[in-house]
Amino acid sequence: MKIKIETSIKSKTGLIVFPLFQENLKKLPKNFPEKLKKFIKDQVKAKEFTGKDAEQLFTYIDNQKTLVLGAGETKKFSTKLARELGAIIGKSVTAHKTKELTVVFHDDLECFEQETLEGILMSQYVFNTFKTPDKKKKKLEKIHLVLSKSTKNLKKSVDKAIDITNSVNLVKDLVNSPANYVDSEYLAKEAKRIAKENKYKIRIMGEKELKKLKAGGILAVNKGCNRDPKLIVLEYRGAGSKKEKPVVLVGKGVIFDTGGYNMKPTGSMETMQQDMAGAATVLGVFNTLKKQGIKRNVYGIMPVVENLVNEDAYRPSDIITMLNGKTVEVTNTDAEGRMILADALHYGSELDPEFMLTIATLTGAVAVALGDRYCGLMGNNDDLIKKFINAGKEVDELGWQLPIHNEYRKKMDSEVADFRNYDRGTGRYGGSSKAAAFLEKFVNKKDWIHVDIGGTAFTTDPKPYEQKGATAHGLRMILKMLEG
Ligand code: BES
Ligand code: MN
Ligand code: ZN
Repeated sequence: MKIKIETSIKSKTGLIVFPLFQENLKKLPKNFPEKLKKFIKDQVKAKEFTGKDAEQLFTYIDNQKTLVLGAGETKKFSTKLARELGAIIGKSVTAHKTKELTVVFHDDLECFEQETLEGILMSQYVFNTFKTPDKKKKKLEKIHLVLSKSTKNLKKSVDKAIDITNSVNLVKDLVNSPANYVDSEYLAKEAKRIAKENKYKIRIMGEKELKKLKAGGILAVNKGCNRDPKLIVLEYRGAGSKKEKPVVLVGKGVIFDTGGYNMKPTGSMETMQQDMAGAATVLGVFNTLKKQGIKRNVYGIMPVVENLVNEDAYRPSDIITMLNGKTVEVTNTDAEGRMILADALHYGSELDPEFMLTIATLTGAVAVALGDRYCGLMGNNDDLIKKFINAGKEVDELGWQLPIHNEYRKKMDSEVADFRNYDRGTGRYGGSSKAAAFLEKFVNKKDWIHVDIGGTAFTTDPKPYEQKGATAHGLRMILKMLEG
């Protein structure tokens, strides 16, 4: 994809888009061509165009496909609407079968050019890795952004939109791809590629090292799988001082979740290749950190396993000694995410973190509680959670806090071990909070936010700039938080 910033309309081919606020109709922007201004005036007079949000007016001017696009009222406009406007522009490129796009920003829209571009770029994603290429299909190849001036800051925000979208697409590809392609080896290779490209330190532990480490939780879940489990640790040093405490990001990497012996029924299992979305998101963050020069020290920890069944698989009633030495009674093999995250959190807590963040498709209960637009947020520091919620609002990724009650903590105690991984008594009630209460036992009192993307990582009802399937929900939110 070629993206150019220009100060006047240069391209004579492809689709040219002119977004307009309602307020602009009285005095049309000075960087619009005269012929177009006349056309718009006539349409407004004939009440064919009012400029309301997402209203479209298509025509040919001098043989060029031209789209006038309503952006609504200036005062109601936001970064969220800018991304959605971008998505409409992106989709009209596909609808009008062209490879080249020009977007003309008038002065009032100029400050939204990063979000508009994000919307355009994110809307172009297609998951076609496994389809025979269709040579006839036209893909957007070139974008001209016409702005009144070309400044360094503009160039920066264009680069930012590109970097963010590249990582969003990476996460979508990893999460959409089936487990027979994206397995633990694949994720490890991907992590190595990102480490090499950005000169990060990386450590990958396989079964042998994990046994030596005594990572009992990770090993137990992967026992039903004849491929290696992994613990992938990436390290980025971006802070001014080496002594600055690192942020530790932990992502759930369950390659496929059958549920194990507490097997998922038909209807609940089919999309469980999404269960490594947390780990994919951490990889997406690391794909951006260096390129965007984020001034933080960050560790990314990804425990990677597959929850399958064979004669070695862990069973309900097994008692597992975890990395931190505590014992866990396995009351449900389908509560596997918390087993691997517990070890990863303990590992992370020893890196002297400023705070830790877990991101995981941890529970189906979070989808029942919050649907597919809000991820569930839990943790032990309300200020940190608030900060995270606000970062999310800025990038249109929403989060909502759920409680961890003391009695939920008690529900994770076992009669035969230190803890149990599932509360048989009240079952799925408050499932997300109880999962978090379990994780909390492994954070060693470090500040910690837990992001449950069980309802948002994968969707059948995409936002304008999303597609069916993987959403990468959480990625832009985390990047915003790290940047702020
Ligand atoms: N990976 C699932 C949670 C999930 C379900 C994510 C649907 C995305 C969509 C997790 O490992 C799981 O199986 N959770 C159980 C928890 C229960 C056994 C305590 C669940 O949600 O039913
Ligand atoms: Mn499960
Ligand atoms: Zn799972």
